[in-house]
Amino acid sequence: MIELQGITKSFGTLQVLKGIDLMIEKGEVVSIVGPSGAGKTTLLQIMGTLDKADAGTILLNGTEVSRLKEKELSAFRNRQIGFVFQFHQLLPEFTALENVMIPALIAGTSSSEAMQKAKETLTFLGLSGRASHKPAELSGGEKQRVAVARALINNPAVILADEPSGSLDTRNKEELHQLFFDLRDKLGQTFVIVTHDESLARLTDRTIHMVDGRISSEV
Ligand SMILES: Nc1ncnc2c1ncn2[C@@H]1O[C@H](COP(=O)(O)OP(=O)(O)OP(=O)(O)O)[C@@H](O)[C@H]1O
Ligand SMILES: [Mg+2]
Repeated sequence: MIELQGITKSFGTLQVLKGIDLMIEKGEVVSIVGPSGAGKTTLLQIMGTLDKADAGTILLNGTEVSRLKEKELSAFRNRQIGFVFQFHQLLPEFTALENVMIPALIAGTSSSEAMQKAKETLTFLGLSGRASHKPAELSGGEKQRVAVARALINNPAVILADEPSGSLDTRNKEELHQLFFDLRDKLGQTFVIVTHDESLARLTDRTIHMVDGRISSEV
């Protein structure tokens, strides 16, 4: 599903990733943990094709992403990768339903079909009653679940999440974590989750520990 080999990345003279090799199977829920500055976000951004590695190869669902041209790459990202960030990054002017529809519209889905899919996804996540509300009218936990719905709508190969529960209280945090595992069980969804949350890391199939730009251990 995801295969990284020899990934390196520097910002100026600072080498942030020093040779990362990583294989992730379909349906795996993998956490990445490690101290601040270890390179976790940088690795996730590179895995998600939002940033480019200096060297190494990335195979995502059978595609070698460095071979893609800019336009192909954005289409690939739109269809194959879902992102969930620490802060929901929903568009404030749009309703929950519209926010979820946007990646489907970008993928060329008709607006009626995108609306249908967005409604189904929101219902699946227990948010059907909140679909017509804008982000400011949703709780923190609801906003993160809308962000998960948006990440899911194109049936991506993988969802990449960077501290997705970092802004939530304990109850919403636990609900969001449970949602990840439900989505894996029901849809076979693959997740890579950067987290500082030890209780989440303990629940995942595998925990990758990063220190100073390298993988120090896998548990
Ligand atoms: N665009 C950038 N330009 C220069 N330096 C950067 C850039 N992005 C990240 N860095 C540096 O790279 C290092 C790794 O950053 P990264 O964001 O990957 O860490 P992290 O493991 O996600 O940390 P945290 O747990 O605090 O989020 C840090 O020293 C950071 O300051
Ligand atoms: Mg980070």
